[in-house]
Amino acid sequence: MHNESCSIRIWTVPGERLFAGERISNAVEALNQGDILIIRNGLQAVNLWTEGCDILQKCLRKIVGRDRARFIEGVGLEHMHRHLSADETARFNDLAHEKYNRWTRTMVPTLVRQAIGYEGPGYFDRNAVIRFFLPHTNYVAGKSDFEKRPGYTKPQGLHIDSWFGHATAGLNFWIALRPVRRGHGLAIYPDKWGKPFLRGADTKPADYSGMGFPITFDLDVGDTLVFHGEHVHSSELNSTDLTRVVLTNRFCVTQPIVTEKESMAMWQPLPKARPARHQELQQLGTPQTVSEFRASYASPETNGFIEVVDAAWCRVTEGGVSRTVGRFCTHEGADLSCGYLQNGRLYCPFHHLHFDPATGKAPHDGFKPLKVPA
Ligand SMILES: [Fe+2]
Repeated sequence: MHNESCSIRIWTVPGERLFAGERISNAVEALNQGDILIIRNGLQAVNLWTEGCDILQKCLRKIVGRDRARFIEGVGLEHMHRHLSADETARFNDLAHEKYNRWTRTMVPTLVRQAIGYEGPGYFDRNAVIRFFLPHTNYVAGKSDFEKRPGYTKPQGLHIDSWFGHATAGLNFWIALRPVRRGHGLAIYPDKWGKPFLRGADTKPADYSGMGFPITFDLDVGDTLVFHGEHVHSSELNSTDLTRVVLTNRFCVTQPIVTEKESMAMWQPLPKARPARHQELQQLGTPQTVSEFRASYASPETNGFIEVVDAAWCRVTEGGVSRTVGRFCTHEGADLSCGYLQNGRLYCPFHHLHFDPATGKAPHDGFKPLKVPA
């Protein structure tokens, strides 16, 4: 059962309200308490959408020429894996990273001042992360090109941002440049908010038991998710047939405290804000509890549970039926007894790959199935 004592709210704010010139007065306070904001059409609302897309377009043209670029834009960049080689994809990502870095000076302050409505002093991170996460089979085919860049072309495992030297008080913008669907998006574990989450070997958590249920997001183009970087989060291993195209940045309303010196050089003070009309989140958006939000896409949490059988097996019990399945995820070997059940499937806590407890089947044949007893 979900922990109802979790006080986190998920706020959905329609971009039209911000486009009309209204600003949120208390977004930073809510984010610092662990709340999560979804600003629908956020990039459009602050007039950055066209410029943001032009950058990608120009980069693609440079890599593959005008005609191919036009064709790929026509079918949608979420289908880039069908039309670009792994090497072209990696070079496209590299170039886009460089160009978006130059754009951060415009983009991040605009989002902070106009979308978030924050007017006080603060800092923003000049490094932009552009993420191209291909469908898993395409990822595997080009692995040597993609795995070199965790977070850019390699899906990120379970973490909090300060593990990677980012500021402990950083607030993240996570922006869908192409549609984001459950199955290749971002997962956040709200129950872990404010609780210690220690890093073990190989940037994996030292302990990932008692994680609770994560929440995941469907976003349309321009939608902007905003959340605190100390939320435990990870990428969903891409089980869809769409490439995830997401741009992320971060800002801080206090002097950034970083664990690695070189990351400090990337932070720059925010420019002055212009006065604007402000309203509280309560007036501009709609709040949902974690349970309400999950109920919009996941079956009601049953009294299902997962138990350890031995070193190789675990047992899933749901709706009075018990099934024994292999204990370790076929992707990177995470312990599935620390995973969770959702819509009748057993989910890995690391990258959210999921299996049918009856057959061991993964979302499709591109993933190795889980062992089930003969
Ligand atoms: Fe992160």
